[in-house]
Amino acid sequence: MPKVPRPDPLSRPESPGQRTNGANGASANGAGPADVAKEAGGDALGWLDERTGGTSFLTGMLYRKVPKGTNWFYTLGSATLFAFTFQAITGVFLAMYYTPSPTQAYGSITHLTNDVWMGEFVRGMHKWGASVMIICIFLHMGRTFFFGAYKYPRELNWVIGVVLLILTLVMGLTGYLLPFDQRSYWATIVANNITGTGPIVGPYLADFLRAGPEIGATTLSRFYAIHMLLVPGLIIALIGAHLYLVVKLGTTAPPWMKAERPKSLRREEVG
Ligand code: HEM
Repeated sequence: MPKVPRPDPLSRPESPGQRTNGANGASANGAGPADVAKEAGGDALGWLDERTGGTSFLTGMLYRKVPKGTNWFYTLGSATLFAFTFQAITGVFLAMYYTPSPTQAYGSITHLTNDVWMGEFVRGMHKWGASVMIICIFLHMGRTFFFGAYKYPRELNWVIGVVLLILTLVMGLTGYLLPFDQRSYWATIVANNITGTGPIVGPYLADFLRAGPEIGATTLSRFYAIHMLLVPGLIIALIGAHLYLVVKLGTTAPPWMKAERPKSLRREEVG
């Protein structure tokens, strides 16, 4: 296992002040200020690690064993995670300028696009990033399906994945209304009508989302709350559970790799 800075659990890490010796900053063992500065990063890590145990968590996460034959398809989950993180970051900046009101939403977005420094860029990243995330999530789901990773003991992780997929699509639907222009208004009416045709819960769900007889001010604030608070919170919690299970259960080997037979089951060589 690669070496990571980890303090001896029984000894307190030295404080940086203890090492220096006199005004020239040279330490007792003759190290100069540059060496002391280099050590400071390790010291800070050690200080944090002694109190949080974070290093053992990170080593478990990052240095876990993966089966032979893993390839680029195994990076699709991380690509989805990266896309989500990017959506969260760009979304925070968009929220600083956006006003969820039918009379001001469109104006706040045109102001952001035309007048704010990098506004058009950040908005573009968020808009295209949504499609990137949806493409990545479907490819990742395809990889886990075709590699048989949904089978025992990873069924629960598959189910969590399905919920993550639905939540990601809900993000797309709720985000689409936010500019409140003609296209988003009419597209949301269509989506709401389709939702209403769903069996049993469909009409109730459509009523809940519309938040009134017509799409209007309450619909917009409801979609905004769902888009920036409720669903991202759920996604973060579920990604946590998803990754916990990935680390706990390990990764599935590609289907074309032969399983290694335990020694006890191997036939003795007849010589
Ligand atoms: C926000 C969405 C998601 C994120 C961030 C995410 C992230 C990840 C990551 C980082 C891994 C480990 C690396 C890899 O195998 O690619 C993984 C594994 C896995 N994911 Fe996802 N995932 C998401 C959605 C989904 C979906 C939609 C499904 C299926 C419906 C799914 C099912 C699985 C399964 C079964 C594994 C275990 C793979 C194995 O053991 O080989 N995930 N996920």
